[in-house]
Amino acid sequence: MADHPFLLACRKQPVPHVPVWYMRQAGRYQPEYRKLRERHTLLEICRNPELCREVTCLPVEQLGVDAAILFSDIMVPLGPMGVDFDIVESVGPVTHNPVRSAADVARLRVFHPEEELPYVAESVRLITRDLHVPLIGFSGAPFTLASYIIEGRPSRDYLRTKRLMWSEPDVWRSLMEKLAEVIVRYLRMQIAAGAAAVQVFDSWVGSLAPEDYRVHVLPAMRRIFSGIADTEVPAIYFGVGTGELLPLFAETGASVIGIDWRVSIAAARRRTQGRVAIQGNLDPALLLAPWPEIQRRARQIIDEGLEAPGFIFNLGHGVVHHQPPVEVDTLRRLTDFVHEYSADRIAESTRVTARRDEP
Ligand code: CP3
Repeated sequence: MADHPFLLACRKQPVPHVPVWYMRQAGRYQPEYRKLRERHTLLEICRNPELCREVTCLPVEQLGVDAAILFSDIMVPLGPMGVDFDIVESVGPVTHNPVRSAADVARLRVFHPEEELPYVAESVRLITRDLHVPLIGFSGAPFTLASYIIEGRPSRDYLRTKRLMWSEPDVWRSLMEKLAEVIVRYLRMQIAAGAAAVQVFDSWVGSLAPEDYRVHVLPAMRRIFSGIADTEVPAIYFGVGTGELLPLFAETGASVIGIDWRVSIAAARRRTQGRVAIQGNLDPALLLAPWPEIQRRARQIIDEGLEAPGFIFNLGHGVVHHQPPVEVDTLRRLTDFVHEYSADRIAESTRVTARRDEP
């Protein structure tokens, strides 16, 4: 498993083809998932290792992707911290007891995931027992989790979150530290159970100015990545609209940075000084476009990705929920295209190098 293309790319080592997986590769675009959701809520699937295994593994079989991602939600570890939430259909996470004061933060429990979320470790063990690709474990990042528990629901402008950050920096720091500690424990549990890599989702941190990110978020991120460094599993850090934050992302200690479609792969590499591998960045809306356009854009991304070591093909954000849905066949075709086109390009450049080296 250690020399699987996905893990090689995370470590910026040579690959036979560009590895590919998709954020939200398990979800409502799949008829099988929609069927299962008629009988079970999202959180029921997360809490049931057998159902979790089924949903996690389905895209690997269906799409031929190079990695599985644990089926769960970023909200899961907030439950044992004392956050009362639901995941509401077509809305997202809703928190019934938002965290807005020093007392609210003081009440949050830093718990032991082995005791309170044993089903997550159980799912990881069950999934990795006979999975033939690496399993990515994951967690939300402190800023993005804080935005859900402070705002109480998905937000456009994060006004309450930013107000707390600026007006009560000590309370904010304590919240970031508690979340970071829980995240380290939660990721370590998944790694111990068999996750071969982890991704930290900071979907909404792109709403911050670089200065605010550096002062109010970066310390917690460094704590997270240094807290799992000894495990030596690759750690991916992903956010949306983070173009201007990328130089600071390179200082977090993550080994791979996930980018969206608003920034080019070449720019991402420059801004991170080639220190990390890059993952991304097809606009997920393109999955609704005609195949020739998808193929043209995928080719551009692969060409750019191959200009330096360490590239993983992904979307710039998760598979969109749309009516009519993204077709499973489109993602299957895209996966095959990434594999075949990149393998040809890599084989060609190897031949060129070999010819050049001839005496
Ligand atoms: O396949 C995978 O990527 C793994 C599963 C996964 C889910 N959520 C399942 C899910 C992952 C990695 C997440 C992470 C997550 N959850 C993030 C970070 C990634 C991102 O998309 O930015 C965020 C912000 C959340 C919070 C959340 N949960 C949102 C915004 C939603 C969508 C609300 C909606 O109804 O459109 C959810 C619900 C959710 N989590 C779904 C899935 C498959 C939607 C389908 C359902 O309710 O069954």
